[in-house]
Order: sequence, then C-alpha cells, then structure tokens
Amino acid sequence: TQHTQPHQAASSLWSSRLAFILAAAGSAVGLGNIWKFPYITGENGGGAFVLVYLVCIALIGVPVLIAETMIGRRGGQSPIATMRSLTGRDGAARGWRAIGWNGVVASFLVLSFYSVIGGWSLVYIGKAAAGVFTGADAEAIGAQFGALLANPWELLLWHSVFMALVILIVGRGIRSGLERAVNMLMPLLFVLLVAMVIYAMNTDSFARGVRFMFSPDFSKLTTEGVLVALGHAAFTLSIGIGVLMAYGSYLPTRVNIARTAVTIAVIDTGVALLAGLAIFPLVFANGLEPGSGPGLIFVTLPLAFGKMSGGVLFGAVFFVLLLVAAITSAISMLEPVVEWLEEHKGFSRARSALFGGLVIWFVGIGTVLSFNLWSDVHPLGFIAFFKDKTVFDLLDFLVSNLMMPLGGLAIALFAGWALGRQGLAEDIGLRGLPYRLFMVVLRYLTPAGIAVVFLYNLV
Ligand code: PHE
Ligand code: NA
Repeated sequence: TQHTQPHQAASSLWSSRLAFILAAAGSAVGLGNIWKFPYITGENGGGAFVLVYLVCIALIGVPVLIAETMIGRRGGQSPIATMRSLTGRDGAARGWRAIGWNGVVASFLVLSFYSVIGGWSLVYIGKAAAGVFTGADAEAIGAQFGALLANPWELLLWHSVFMALVILIVGRGIRSGLERAVNMLMPLLFVLLVAMVIYAMNTDSFARGVRFMFSPDFSKLTTEGVLVALGHAAFTLSIGIGVLMAYGSYLPTRVNIARTAVTIAVIDTGVALLAGLAIFPLVFANGLEPGSGPGLIFVTLPLAFGKMSGGVLFGAVFFVLLLVAAITSAISMLEPVVEWLEEHKGFSRARSALFGGLVIWFVGIGTVLSFNLWSDVHPLGFIAFFKDKTVFDLLDFLVSNLMMPLGGLAIALFAGWALGRQGLAEDIGLRGLPYRLFMVVLRYLTPAGIAVVFLYNLV
C-alpha cells in the first residue's frame, strides 16, 4: 500500500490526543444529541428504540468510528484523496472510492438542514434572554414555536446567520482557536444538562420519564424505527460521512485510536441520555406528547426555564451552549466539501468555504419552506413509505438513514476485508485477543447488522 501522508508534517499534527478528541467530540456532540435524539425517541415509542440505538452504537458505531479514523490516518489526506491513495494501482479495488464521494455529498446535504435547526437555537437565545418564557404555560410556549415555524422569513434570516458564522470560521481557518474555546464550553454544557436532569428529578414525572426511556416495549418499535435507530447511531457519531477520515488524517501515529474512539462514543452517548432524562419528565409533567416531533426540546425546556428562578440567565446560557455545540458539528460538515473544492477546483480555503457554504445555504431554503409554505408538499408521496415526508424529512432520511449507515457499511467492509492487514493492529491500537475480537466484529457483525436492518426495511 502507498503511504503518502502530506499531513503528517510535525507542524500540522494535532498537538495531542486531547486535541483530536476535542475536535472529533465537537463534531459528534451537537443537535443530534440534544434536539434529535429526544424527539426521535419520542416518535418511536421510547425504551425499545433506545435499546436498539445503544446496541447500534456499540456494535456498529464504535467499530466504524475506529475504522474510519484509522483509514484517515493511513491516507493522510482529504477523504477523496485518501480513498484514492489506498485504492487502485497496488492498493484495493477502485470501487471503494465511492466512500469518499458519498461523504462529500452527504456532508453537503446534512449541513443544508442542520443549519436551519441551528438557526432555531439562535432564535431561542434571544427569546430566553428577553424573558418571554417567564410564567408562560405549555400552550403559549407551543404557540411561540409554531409561530416561528410558520414564518419563512424569520427561519431564513437565522439560517443565513448560522451559515454565515460557519463560513467565517471555516473560511478563515480559525478552527483551532474555536476548538480551544470549546474545550471550556462543552464541559459547561454537560454541567447545565446535569442541572436540568436534577430539575427534572424534582417534578413528579421523573420516574415516568425514566421508564419511558429505559423500559423496552417492543410492540412500539417498527422496522422503520430500527432503521432510524441505526441511522441515528451513525448521525450522532458523525461516522460514514468522511468527517472522521478528514480529522483522522491529522492524527499522530502514537495516538491509540481504539481508546480514543471509545472515549468519544461514551461522551456522545452520555450527552444524549442526559438530554433525554432532562426532557421526558418535563414532557409528562406538562401533559405534552413525546411524539410531537422536531419542536420537542424547543417547547419542553423553555417551559422549565420559565418556571425556575434565574431561568432567564440559565435558559439564555443553555441555548448559547447549544449553538456552540451545533457550530462545532456544522464546521466539521463543511470540511469535506471545502477540501474537495480546494483539491478539484483549485479554490483557496476562503473561497471554497464561501462558495460551498452559499450553495448549501441555497439548498437549505428547501428545509426552511418545508415547515410552512411547503408543509403539504410530499415530493415522494406516491411511494407509500414516504407518504407524509416533507423535503426536510426526506433529506434527513436520505442522509441519516441511508447515506451515513451505508457509508459506514462500506467503511467496515473496506477496513475489514480490503485494506492490508500489515500493521493494522498497531494502527488501531489493540493487540492479542481484543484485536482478534474487534476484527470479527468489524468484518462480520457490523456489516451483517447494517445489512439486516436494510433487508428488513426492503421487505
Ligand atoms: N454528530 C452531529 C450531531 O450529533 C451531527 C453530524 C452529522 C456531524 C454528520 C457531522 C457529520 O449533532
Ligand atoms: Na452526536
């Protein structure tokens, strides 16, 4: 195999294992944990869905996280160039290069709707700080969220502000500064989530919330629910999309990838479970519907902020931290697109970020409209499975439930079967029995798990 590693110059390596963990965890922890996990758990009936999701994290998420980072470090370049250097000529077959392309297209599409939701957190910083939740009841707070969704101009404005921030950060190459700041902010987000869970413990519905999340009732889980759980395991860890390949290319060889990947998965899963534990008790305490969709956290959390003392400050800080978490994920989504534009179009970094960002912003208008003017537009409505899905639903489904898990499948197969075995154990950071077990999981269980979920959903 070729080992061209242009990034592996001492100056451009991550300063430490910690720096990589921060960037990869910054990509992982985001709206997926705090916004998406609770609402899809609510829509899919709770406990059984959470259980399947946790199994997917362990059996599919972590192995792919390890494999993708390892491939990135071996290739040492952007995802497309990395896949090119590890395939063809004396490497593996060229078909694997589709992994790189799938990543660039999926990152592009995911950012187009992620930015719209990131805009919601901007709006909610303002609302919380202005004190509009103080003393408001569930109905009033639900109506505020409804009014936001109904207003395409307001959604467009905040989607634009969010994209502008992302373009600025990526285009000016000030990621490292940001990552150092995030170093302090993410533990604070964790602390605030714990505080929200403690608040939820003092409602009379905490036990009910815990039961909803952790006692599995398999009669509530559909085959589509299993696909959503698999897709979310990929989404929440940012795997199968080239992001970790890009970040892995900067990773020094002495860093133990297996241990690092487990750390990231534990942090990410911890944040998601805390978010669920904070939100579901509030859902039940206020007589709300767990399956009410993407607005779930934007209704339940403001209710709590409106009731607690100091809720104005607490709420504002919470949404600022949610915004920061969303931005560190969003910049990782723009990275594969920017690298592709730099390599293939010869654009400068700033120009790539601006051009790529603007096209993504434009595509995001489809998501903006799907909450109001196009809320009755179901582009694939003629297929029963997609009957009620809006443009936003379809984009989310395509990226999270198809492109990311299938990208993960290809990565597991590539790393498990096509990549040279020499030095693989050291590259991964395992030896002896753990290494052999890991390879069995990566070669058989991970691909079989993904394949079974897809086959079930086809028939
Ligand atoms: N993992 C991020 C989250 O949970 C989302 C993400 C998806 C980031 C794909 C990068 C790539 O919010
Ligand atoms: Na996540």
